[in-house]
Amino acid sequence: MAKTLQSIRGMNDILPNATAAWQSLTNIILQLAQQYGYEEIRTPLVEQVQLFHRSVGDTSDIVQKEMYQFVDQNDDVLALRPEGTAACVRACIQHGLIYNQRQKLWYMGPMYRRERPQKGRYRQFHQFGLEAFGYADTDIEIEQLLWMQRFFAALSLEDVQLEINTLGDAAARASYTKALQQYLSQHRDMLDADSLKRLETNPLRILDSKVTATQALLADAPCLLDHLPDTARAHFEHVQHLLDQLNVPHVVNTRLVRGLDYYNGLVFEWTTHALGAQGTLCAGGRYDNLVSQLGGQPTPAFGCAMGIERILSLATLSQDHRTMWRGHVLCASEAVLAPALLTCEQLRNALPNMTWTLDAHPFKLKNQLKRANKANATLAIILDHDAWKNGQCQLKWMQSSDTADVQAPLHDLIDQIKTQSTQPKLERHT
Ligand code: HAM
Repeated sequence: MAKTLQSIRGMNDILPNATAAWQSLTNIILQLAQQYGYEEIRTPLVEQVQLFHRSVGDTSDIVQKEMYQFVDQNDDVLALRPEGTAACVRACIQHGLIYNQRQKLWYMGPMYRRERPQKGRYRQFHQFGLEAFGYADTDIEIEQLLWMQRFFAALSLEDVQLEINTLGDAAARASYTKALQQYLSQHRDMLDADSLKRLETNPLRILDSKVTATQALLADAPCLLDHLPDTARAHFEHVQHLLDQLNVPHVVNTRLVRGLDYYNGLVFEWTTHALGAQGTLCAGGRYDNLVSQLGGQPTPAFGCAMGIERILSLATLSQDHRTMWRGHVLCASEAVLAPALLTCEQLRNALPNMTWTLDAHPFKLKNQLKRANKANATLAIILDHDAWKNGQCQLKWMQSSDTADVQAPLHDLIDQIKTQSTQPKLERHT
């Protein structure tokens, strides 16, 4: 027998028993996005690899180690998108969406990073993101954090903490990078191989190190806040003050630098203890230079993205549409197949909130009823030739012994189903 093929490691099928939760989450996101005035944008999964070199950064782990890239038949070097911000900016510049105007956009879809798969970390994962263009001030920053707070509350997620930091402008970061590099260079013998490499390429990323000895070393390292100009420090204090006023609990984490190069100013992460090492649920910050870096007019911007798989592993979502009533249309003989198909269509028109399934071949009523039972159908509409000749069909309630079966014209049966569906006595399928 031929060997069966498997999905790619770290890329998961989302099976029918899980898609209901995805749909519920999408509905919550859509509603919140509308409430806050964000419009959806959809960009391709594949982009020129240069887009990510010029945005996420040449020295970032994502670009150096994790991108799925390939050369296509035209010798173009393409990549599966590892994140959504760069493509969003590219699309905005290409279509003039942020030329002399502000935009608040959201997106959701699969992203690709060739990381070592483990719980909460996948090679194909899904992000939901918010990006606000043309907003230079603190209000958009606080508003997005409030969005997230509302979102976590809607999902009843309680073990979620907000960590914030500020990266200042390029000059402050350059001055700090130099100070950090000097400090760590004096302790090279205590650094692991990864940090030694980063010391040359991207010293700020060492602040993220999980190695215990490196963390101990960092306790006495220079602090980024000390290298910020007064204006940047004042802005950061203002953000904290507003968060206090609006009851958004937060902690300052001066080692939070983010793994993508495009940030400046405020950066943040929402984290949880419930997911072990992969505890960052949502992350983002300000990126005022990215639009001009990618060829657009200078445009201030602020955004964030969250990992849907991580959120779904924590949230228990109501599966609304799974509680919909389910009707089976049973067709007793070939002679009533066309009327049965038509009946199904009429039922879908008249009762659009129910799921309708036609069960015809091989025209054995006993088996059809068994299948309806197994599928937890609320009711069955049975078409047989004799009744149909008289313009009637039969309604059978599958889950209630005290509701009698009836034979009547279809429009009468529809009225009865409508009446029953407003009464809670029949059990709904879950
Ligand atoms: P990021 O921190 O790389 O930021 O990713 C955002 C979120 O995506 C993470 O906090 C995490 O929840 C989820 N995530 C990342 N990698 C994986 C993975 N391998 N498996 C599962 N989930 C993952 C960005 O991507 C930025 N574009 C965020 C942003 C938007 N900044 C400004 N605007």
